[in-house]
Amino acid sequence: MSHPEDQAGTRRDFLYYFTGGAGVVAAAGAVWPLVNQMNPSADVQALSSIRVDTSGVEPGQQLTVKWLGKPVFIRRRTEDEITAERAVDISTLPDPLARNANGQDGADASDENRALDEGGEWLVQMGVCTHLGCVPLADAGEFGGWFCPCHGSHYDLSGRIRKGPAPENLPVPPARFDGDDLILG
Ligand code: FES
Repeated sequence: MSHPEDQAGTRRDFLYYFTGGAGVVAAAGAVWPLVNQMNPSADVQALSSIRVDTSGVEPGQQLTVKWLGKPVFIRRRTEDEITAERAVDISTLPDPLARNANGQDGADASDENRALDEGGEWLVQMGVCTHLGCVPLADAGEFGGWFCPCHGSHYDLSGRIRKGPAPENLPVPPARFDGDDLILG
C-alpha cells in the first residue's frame, strides 16, 4: 500500500530548505502547479504532506522548510539544550499547554510533551509568532531560543513563549520520522 506522501511521485522536488545561513536550495516551487493539474486528491496530498531529509542536520543546527505556505523550524538540539529545557519549572510558563498536534489535548508544556522524539533531540514547530504572525529569529532573545523582533516576544529552546506579547507557545505541527526523513502533515 502506498502512503499519501509517496503518491505525489517527485516528493523531494517539493522541498526547498536552508540551514544556518547557507541558503541551500534543493528544488523549486514551480513543481506545484504541475501537481495541481493531476487531480484534486494528489493536489491536496502534495500540499498537505511533505518529506524532509534531516540527515545533514547536526546537533545545534536548524533547518527551515516551507509547509502549507508557512515556515517550519526543525531543530536538532544538543544534550545541553535538552537538559536545560527539561529543567524549566513549567509553573512559570505563560502558556501552560504543549500545543503539540501529535500529543494529547490539554497536555502540559513540559519539554517532553513538545519534542518529537522521546530523547528530546528533535524539536519541530511552526516558525510563526503567535502574537501577530512574524517569523521569529533563531538563536536570539533572552531564553536562548527564538526572538520575534516585531513586538519583542522571547521563546525558549522548546519554542515556549517566555516573555513578551505572544500569547501561546509555537505550535508543533503533525510530524513523524521515517528513518532520516521527517514527514510533515
Ligand atoms: S508578531 Fe511577534 S511579537 Fe508581535
